Amino acid sequence: MEYRKLLAACFVSVIATGCDSGAVTTESTFATDSAAQAAAAGISHGEYVARLGNCVACHSIPEGEPFAGGLKMAVPMLGNLYTTNITPDPATGIGNYSFDEFDSAMRFGVTKDGHRMYPAMPYPSYAKMSEQDMHALYDFFMNEVEPVNLANQASDIPGWKDNARLVMGIWNFLNMDSDPFEADPNQNDDWNRGAYLTQGPGHCGACHTPRGLMMQEKGLDESDSSFLSGAPLDHWNASSLNGDINSGLGRWSEDDLAEFLGTGHNRFGTAFGTMVEVVNNSTQYMSETDLNAMAVYLKSLPPVAEVNASVWGYDNTETEALLGLNFSEAGSQDYYEYCSNCHGTDGMGYYPYQPPLAGNPVIMDADPSSLINLTLNGSLRVISAQGPDVNDMPYFRQLLSDEEIADVITYIRSSWGHDASAVSTAQVSEIREATDPTRNDDIYVLRMK
Ligand code: HEC
Ligand code: HEC
Ligand code: HEC
Repeated sequence: MEYRKLLAACFVSVIATGCDSGAVTTESTFATDSAAQAAAAGISHGEYVARLGNCVACHSIPEGEPFAGGLKMAVPMLGNLYTTNITPDPATGIGNYSFDEFDSAMRFGVTKDGHRMYPAMPYPSYAKMSEQDMHALYDFFMNEVEPVNLANQASDIPGWKDNARLVMGIWNFLNMDSDPFEADPNQNDDWNRGAYLTQGPGHCGACHTPRGLMMQEKGLDESDSSFLSGAPLDHWNASSLNGDINSGLGRWSEDDLAEFLGTGHNRFGTAFGTMVEVVNNSTQYMSETDLNAMAVYLKSLPPVAEVNASVWGYDNTETEALLGLNFSEAGSQDYYEYCSNCHGTDGMGYYPYQPPLAGNPVIMDADPSSLINLTLNGSLRVISAQGPDVNDMPYFRQLLSDEEIADVITYIRSSWGHDASAVSTAQVSEIREATDPTRNDDIYVLRMK
């Protein structure tokens, strides 16, 4: 369809001026208006923005109705709160919100009844959304989402602590910029579109940017080197998305990145932990143009921690030892028995079904918490329309002791040319205690309608 439009534009301009590549100008709203990409993806403009913003992941529970809320979220130091019902039910949802009230909830974190939200709702990112996208999003919730009558659950934050809400206005003033995204004239269209998606509706920084003392994200765009430099959240470590050569995206091409976001895997690794929800419910629905734009933007972020580091290179010492049944290195025998049938004695995995461990950025990350959590608890499965569905990682909580898990992770962090820090038994014990032993086997791609 787009191609036909392009031809038509070309035809008109042939009559007028002749058809050259300059004849088809991109609209100035390419960066911030998602209507054309929604059409390319075959869904309504508003549904597309809801996908970009991944509203369904927080405002639903797997066994509940879409957008009816109820997901428990921890607010550090205060307690837990539950996401709210954002279906258009007038009594319990947001059916009585006018557009302006919706807009101010989304950009400033102020609800219709005037109370201030905690930034567990990523409004500092949504503040960057364009007016066109915000209107489409509002129309989607009012007209395309089924109303569900379900009262919101009260938070278990005690009243005196909940007064923290009162100071959120000052927090906003100190920590955020509520102006919509503005394109940078020195960058091309794809970069600007990618910047808009990443910083705005995609709220990638909510997990990937480290937070400061007031729990604010340390940077909201590329002007701050902390932006997307990797951060711990819920016992997962959302790894660095900047140009760091080994633990960031320095070795990935734009195509690798677009493939990962669209399908949940590529030749370097597979999405796991909280990233599975992002791929399953959000990024896999993005148009090819948008996946590419996001890749262009992310690939423009320079390295931060590994500025002069040497590039990882494969070393087969451990592979030879395993093949010779030499298990002198701690963790190697457990690796051979419990891991090598899927990840290979050579650590190369079986793309696309089982990810490689050798050369995988997450294995070389300074923070090993994702690796510990995954080995203890496994991961939800990536389900992508682009396929193939990958297998999921089994959990070793019952099978292996904390010491064995520490050894096997230390082993993969120092094998095949890796040079990452060792993991201690205490680090494993801490995450074992903090994570829920009842594994949730629901494989969820949440319904939206
Ligand atoms: C990371 C989790 C998260 C995501 C993603 C998220 N929300 Fe929220 N949202 C919350 C939480 C938590 C609250 C309640 C905050 C509070 O009470 O302090 C909330 C509250 C709201 C409210 C106020 C509702 C009311 O009951 O009055 C609206 C409106 C809202 N969200 C809309 C959206 C939309 C639209 C999207 C997608 C573009 C979205 N949210 C994505 C966590 C999230
Ligand atoms: C049955 C096959 C299987 C076995 C056995 C297995 N894994 Fe995995 N592993 C996977 C799959 C599939 C993933 C991709 C993540 C997902 O979707 O669950 C994965 C992911 C990982 C990752 C994250 C890499 C990434 O990019 O996703 C690490 C680290 C890992 N496994 C370590 C181990 C260790 C250590 C063992 C042995 C204790 C092990 N695995 C045993 C299948 C397996
Ligand atoms: C809810 C938290 C969360 C959000 C939101 C999130 N991520 Fe992630 N992401 C993670 C975690 C945890 C990992 C590490 C596990 C893995 O590699 O899948 C990760 C890993 C990744 C990786 C793989 C990095 C590597 O080195 O293997 C990419 C690429 C990525 N995220 C991109 C994004 C983009 C782009 C966005 C915004 C559209 C985003 N993420 C939003 C949690 C999140």
